[in-house]
This record gives sequence, structure tokens and C-alpha cells, in this order.
Amino acid sequence: MTSIIDTPTSALPTSVRPTSAGPLVIKHPIEPEAEPAIRLQEVRLTYETKEGALLEAVDRTNLTIRAGEFTALVGPSGCGKTSLLRIIAGLTPASNGDVSIFGQTPKEAQRHKRLGLVFQEPALLAWRSVEDNVRLGLQLNPRETHSSTNVHELIEIVGLSGFERYRPAELSGGMQQRAALARALAIDPPLLLMDEPFAALDEITREQMRYELQRLWSVSHDPRDPPRSAVFVTHSVAEAVAIADRVLVMSPRPGRIIADIPITTPRPRRPEHEHSDRFVNDTAIVRSALRSPTTPAVPLDAA
Ligand SMILES: Nc1ncnc2c1ncn2[C@@H]1O[C@H](COP(=O)(O)OP(=O)(O)O)[C@@H](O)[C@H]1O
Ligand SMILES: [Mg+2]
Repeated sequence: MTSIIDTPTSALPTSVRPTSAGPLVIKHPIEPEAEPAIRLQEVRLTYETKEGALLEAVDRTNLTIRAGEFTALVGPSGCGKTSLLRIIAGLTPASNGDVSIFGQTPKEAQRHKRLGLVFQEPALLAWRSVEDNVRLGLQLNPRETHSSTNVHELIEIVGLSGFERYRPAELSGGMQQRAALARALAIDPPLLLMDEPFAALDEITREQMRYELQRLWSVSHDPRDPPRSAVFVTHSVAEAVAIADRVLVMSPRPGRIIADIPITTPRPRRPEHEHSDRFVNDTAIVRSALRSPTTPAVPLDAA
């Protein structure tokens, strides 16, 4: 790394420039700019099908997601949402471009347990109880600071107290998804990636879970740590607007981000907010971007 001494003085902020009176004095320590949670540069993904044909799934994508941002990714079925999330998670390598997760490659970020993953089908181990599934998440936690989090606390937070010894098959879909969330949150990951986690649930449970997730999000996080970020894939516009700080809309395949819509409903959010003018207006903007994939509804974040 270049030391401050090697930096041309003209490039330094005035507070750290050498003064004529004497040697270099650093008046205020320079805070290095926080790494964004996710930075995608010119990312593309082309699959080779079994027949040998090339299928372009993700088109040129540039995106920066800052630490603390809860982002929803919406788009029509087959547009490349899962593919893009898998690239971010380090499960599928991009064909082109650069992916950085807190300044690391996705694989490194995965190794350092900086990612939590929740999929549409809760990937619980069928032969393990709820308690053992959640404990597995904690056992994977390499950070001593969170060793105080205990399995029972997490199970209570997700509302599964009393079901500790149940196996996944003995639980409803909503309960399985809560257990999967508890397991992902056990490592208190700085970045949580969720691919349609509520898609298999009935409508009523699904509507409850979007608020449940926001509650879990805040109570399961150690406030001494930097804020946590999330990417939440969904094809439900209402779910995206209810849950996110920012909604990214993807075009039909090959998917690219065609709108970047800030959601300003204050937190904590409640189901009543879905009747507010602001909510209705935000969902209309997202829907209009989905309907006219060639004309962005709002200027894109050029980052
Ligand atoms: N492993 C794969 N091999 C070939 N094609 C794939 C593969 N995975 C996904 N696809 C194709 O890529 C496109 C995008 O898929 P996907 O990312 O799953 O979309 P979404 O999650 O938005 O529904 C689809 O046309 C899908 O059929
Ligand atoms: Mg998908």
C-alpha cells in the first residue's frame, strides 16, 4: 500500500498536507473509505447448454451495494436473478467482469464466512433437528465475538421455541424457512443473500414473513459490528418495496439492471405502510420499470 509519505502532497486533504511550519502533521486520522459490500464491474454470464449452444443469462452489469443497504432484485422469471445472485455468492463464476465482496473475491468472502445464503427451498439437513441445524450454523462461525449467541436465543428469535427437537419434515414451510434463516443468521454474516426465500409459502405466511425477516434482521445483529447488507431476490413487487431500501429491476434475459429505485418508507416498517401513498407510488414506479424494460423509470446509478 502507498504510504501517506509517498503520496503527492497536492493529492492529500488540506488537513494532512505538510505545513511550511514543519513536518507532516496528521491532524485527523484518515478513515479509509469503507469497502462496498458488493461491487460488480462489467459482469456477464453466458452458459453453455448441454447441446453446446451459448445462452446469455446476465448482460453487462455494473453495480455497487454499500454496507448497510437492504437491496431487492426483481425481474421476470428466467431473466437471470438467480444467476446474478450465484455470481455474487461465488457459486457460479462470471464469464466476464469483476466481482468484489468487501474488497475480496466471492470465494474468499465465502471462506471468511462473510456471506449468509438462504434459498427458495430451505436447505436444512433432513436428519437433524431444528436445534442441530441451527447449531451447525454456529459451529461454522469463526468469529469469537459472536460465541455468546446461543442456539436457544436464535431459535426463540425466529419463533421456534418448543420445536427444537423437531426434524424439518415435521415443520410447516414457514417454520422450515425460519429455521433456515436462523441458521444463516447464526454466523451473523455482514452480507445475507436470499433467493426467493418465501416463494414456497402460502400468501398469508409470506406476507407475515417479510416483516418477520425485518425484525430478525435487527434483533439478531450485534450493534457493535458494521451494518449488515442484503440482496433479496423476489418476483413480488410488493414484497420488494415492503422490505428494501433500494429496488433493482432487471430486464428480461439476458438480464441487466434497468432501474434503481430508492424506497424511502421509514423503518421499522409495518403492514399498514402498504396502504400508504408512498408505498403505492413506489410499487407503481417498480411496475412501470418492469413493463417497459427499454426505458429506465429513473436514472440509473452509474457506479
Ligand atoms: N446451469 C445452467 N445452464 C444453462 N442455462 C441455465 C443454467 N442456469 C440457468 N440457466 C438459464 O439462464 C436463464 C436465467 O436463469 P435464472 O438465473 O435461473 O433466472 P431467474 O432466477 O431470474 O428466474 C434462464 O434462461 C435459464 O434457463
Ligand atoms: Mg431464480
